[in-house]
Amino acid sequence: MKITAGFVLLASAGFVAAQDVQANEARTIFGPGGLLDLLIPKPLVTSYSLQSHIKSNKLLDHAKQLVKFSKLNGGSTRAFGSVGHNSTLTYFKKLLDDTKYYDTSYQTFPYLYSQGTAAFSANGTDYKTAWFTYGVAGEVEAPVILVNDLGCTLADFPEAVVGKIALIKRGQCEFGLKVALAGAAGAAGSIIYNNAGGSLSGTLGQISRAEGPYIPAGSLSGEDGEALRATIAAGSQVIGKIHVDATNEQRWSSNLFAVTKTGDKQNIVMAGAHSDSVAAGPGINDDGSGSMGVLEIALNLPKYKVKNAVRFAWWTAEEFGLVGSEHYVANLSEAERQKIALYLNFDMIASPNFGYFIHDGDGSTFNVSGAAGSDHIERTFEKFYASNKVKSAPTEFSGRSDYGPFLDANIPAGGVNTGAEGIKTAEEAKWWGGKAGDPYDICYHAACDGIENLNVPAFVMNTKAAAHAIATYARSLTGIPRPRPAATNGLRVSKLSYDDRRHQGCGHEVLTA
Ligand SMILES: *[C@@H]1O[C@H](CO)[C@@H](O)[C@H](O)[C@H]1NC(C)=O
Ligand SMILES: *[C@@H]1O[C@H](CO)[C@@H](O)[C@H](O)[C@H]1NC(C)=O
Ligand SMILES: *[C@@H]1O[C@H](CO)[C@@H](O)[C@H](O)[C@H]1NC(C)=O
Ligand SMILES: *[C@@H]1O[C@H](CO)[C@@H](O)[C@H](O)[C@H]1NC(C)=O
Ligand SMILES: [Zn+2]
Repeated sequence: MKITAGFVLLASAGFVAAQDVQANEARTIFGPGGLLDLLIPKPLVTSYSLQSHIKSNKLLDHAKQLVKFSKLNGGSTRAFGSVGHNSTLTYFKKLLDDTKYYDTSYQTFPYLYSQGTAAFSANGTDYKTAWFTYGVAGEVEAPVILVNDLGCTLADFPEAVVGKIALIKRGQCEFGLKVALAGAAGAAGSIIYNNAGGSLSGTLGQISRAEGPYIPAGSLSGEDGEALRATIAAGSQVIGKIHVDATNEQRWSSNLFAVTKTGDKQNIVMAGAHSDSVAAGPGINDDGSGSMGVLEIALNLPKYKVKNAVRFAWWTAEEFGLVGSEHYVANLSEAERQKIALYLNFDMIASPNFGYFIHDGDGSTFNVSGAAGSDHIERTFEKFYASNKVKSAPTEFSGRSDYGPFLDANIPAGGVNTGAEGIKTAEEAKWWGGKAGDPYDICYHAACDGIENLNVPAFVMNTKAAAHAIATYARSLTGIPRPRPAATNGLRVSKLSYDDRRHQGCGHEVLTA
C-alpha cells in the first residue's frame, strides 16, 4: 500500500487526539466537515452500502437495553413519561450524540396520562372486570342498587343509590355520563355492564365532567350483569366491592430529533418511529422495533455523505393518539413544513407472525391516498421487497400511526409494518409462512411484547427496507414534488379530543359508549 500524504496527516491527527486536546479542537479534525472529511471525503450514501451495516446482533443489543429500561419502574413498561421511556430516549440520544454527525434535540411538552386497573366482587365472588380509562381510584364496599332505564338522566337513579354501588346497563349515552350522573346522585361506586354478550372495556372519555364527579367504576360482561340484575330484582341483597387503582396525571415528555449537520436543509428527508409503549408491557415490537431500526440506520449513516439532510424522529405518546407527532407537525411554521420533503414511518416492523405491509400511498388498493409523492414512496418500498424476492402487500393509509399528522399537513409519507392485532389469512401464510388464523402480533399491547416477541429475520429485512428508502431519498428526491403546494386542510388530529386520539394509537379501538 502506498502511504499518501493524507494518510500521514491522518495518523498525526490521531496522535493529537491522544494528547487529549480540548474536545472542540478535536472536533474540527474529526467532525463532519472537519479536516479528516477534507482529506478522505466520505462516499455518498447508497442503499446497498447503508443496508450492509444492518445486523441482527446490533438490533438485539438495543432490544436488551429497552427491556432493561422497561423494568426500572418495578413493572414492565415504557409508557410515555415513565422512567422506562425516558431512559430509552436518553440511551438513543447518547449514541446519536457520540457520532458527532447530528444535531440532536428534545421537544418537551405536557400531556395527560391515564392508567389503571379495577376489581369487582359481589358477595365474595370475584368477577371479570375492566377499568375505564380516566376512571378515578378508590375502594367501595356497599350494596348494589339497580338503576332505572340506562342511567342517562339523573332521574334514572333512585334515592336508594346514595352511598351504594349503582348497577347500570350499557347503551344510549357515554360511559362517562353514566358514571358522572351516578356520582351526582350520590352513589359511591358504579358498575356498567355490557348490553350484549361478552366483556366490556372502554373509556370515560375525559378527565372529569360538568354533570357530576367521577366515582370508582368498573365493567361487567352482559352475562354477569344480567345475572346480577336478576338476583337483585328478585329481592336478594348483594354486597359489591369495587377496588380501582388509577393514575391520572399530567406528564412531561419529549420527542427526540437528530438531524444531520450536513446535507441540504431545504430538502429534508424525515424518518421516524414512536419511542413509547403502552402501559401494559415493554413494547419491544410496538414500537421498540421501529425505534431501534431507525436508530441503527442513524448510527451507520455517519459513515457516508448525504445530499439531502436527514432528520430522524422518535415520537412520544403515540399510544395516546399520535400526540408527539401531531405536536411537532402542528408547531411547524409554513417555511419549516415546506423544507420537509417527505416522512417515512416505521411502527411495528418485527411482528412474530409478520406480513410485509407497505402503506398504500397511491390509494390504489384502499382508496385513501397521501400527498403527491406518497405513491413514489410506496413504489420505493415495493422495489426493495421485489429485489429481495419477497412478497409485499399494501396496507391502508388509515392515519393510525405517526404519519397521520404529516398526511394532514400534505407532506408525502409512507412506511412499512408487519401487522398488529389483525389476523393472518391463509393466502398470507402461503406468502410469508407463519400461522393463518392467528394475529400478526399475539402480544400486541400486552405484557408479552418482549424480545421473544420479535421475529428477527423480519426485523432485519424491514430495517434494510427503511435503510433503502432513507438512502434513496438522501441521495435524490426525484419523484417527490418539490416545492410542494401549500396545505389546504387544517390538521385533522389537532381537533381531536383525548379519546378521539386514543382511537388512532396503533390501530387501537376504544369504546366510549
Ligand atoms: C349476599 O350477602 C348478604 C349479606 O351477607 C346476604 O344477606 C345476601 O343474601 C347475599 N346474597 C346472595 C345473592 O347470596
Ligand atoms: C421524563 O422526562 C421529562 C422530560 O422529557 C421530565 O419532565 C420527567 O420528569 C421525566 N420523568 C421521569 C419519571 O423521569
Ligand atoms: C406548540 O408548541 C408550544 C410550545 O411547546 C405548545 O404550547 C403548543 O401547544 C404547541 N401547539 C400545538 C398545536 O401543538
Ligand atoms: C374513493 O373515494 C372517493 C372520496 O374520497 C369517492 O368519491 C369514490 O367514490 C371512492 N371510490 C371507490 C371506488 O370507492
Ligand atoms: Zn405502535
